[in-house]
Amino acid sequence: MTFIVHISDFHVGGTDFSEDVFFNSIDKVNDLDPDFIIFTGDFTNHGYYAEYIKAIEYIKFFKSMFFSIPGNHDARNLGYETFQKLIGERNWAQNLSSNNKVNNKIQYDDTLNGECTLKNKEIKDWIKVQGPKCSVDIDNITLVGLDSSEPDISDGSVGRPQQLWMEEILADSYMNSTFSIVAIHHHVLPIPKTGRERNILFDAGDILKSLTDFEVNMVLSGHKHVPYLWKVENTIFATAGSFSSLKLRGSCPNSFNTYEIGEDYVEAILKPYRKEDILLGKYKF
Ligand SMILES: [Fe+2]
Ligand SMILES: [Fe+2]
Repeated sequence: MTFIVHISDFHVGGTDFSEDVFFNSIDKVNDLDPDFIIFTGDFTNHGYYAEYIKAIEYIKFFKSMFFSIPGNHDARNLGYETFQKLIGERNWAQNLSSNNKVNNKIQYDDTLNGECTLKNKEIKDWIKVQGPKCSVDIDNITLVGLDSSEPDISDGSVGRPQQLWMEEILADSYMNSTFSIVAIHHHVLPIPKTGRERNILFDAGDILKSLTDFEVNMVLSGHKHVPYLWKVENTIFATAGSFSSLKLRGSCPNSFNTYEIGEDYVEAILKPYRKEDILLGKYKF
């Protein structure tokens, strides 16, 4: 069994950032002692260097392994460069290890440059090595982080080279029957109660097809500050609310999600700030 905490959208440096909510929520996360934490973007509000420095100070309070990708706010004001300098790669993939180390780090290969290395492969003809996914411990998880941000605009896209790179990794995961998780800031599917649809991925259709063709188990996003869960074919699409920004919609509080991944199920729980837990969904796979 693997237990994951999914958090998003700190917005450090914004006038709506609440340090009080932040530290109370960190205690809650640390008490849960997850196997790892996935952060799906918007560490900062403006992408400023000083905001990154502050955000890194905050991140140090989390006790579990921590994985992150940038959001659209992080890419502002050359923040996409600062992210790489102070936090790490903006696109990455890793097979996890239970002893708190990560191995098999796979770098994003920007030399692909639009070339389709998978064009002759028929996905549906591939045979999984282990048959159905029967054991989901942390050693059997492939985690992919995708940067969907564009400098200085709120819209997002993955782009063809990144999509092809992701497909290579997902093909490996599919054939080796690892439990696959993709983290991407912008939502691939529309989120209810977020008003007029804005900033969905420009190439959402193409990415949705890749994710469902390769039977990715979970896709984790942020951006809208509204938690939600969709299941499309065999893939669960989950968005997390904002962890610590008071830029919220209606009565939707700050929150984060947890995912318990058992032998044949995923249970997703919403943890609203100072409120009772809510079951987002429980699915067999
Ligand atoms: Fe945000
Ligand atoms: Fe965002």
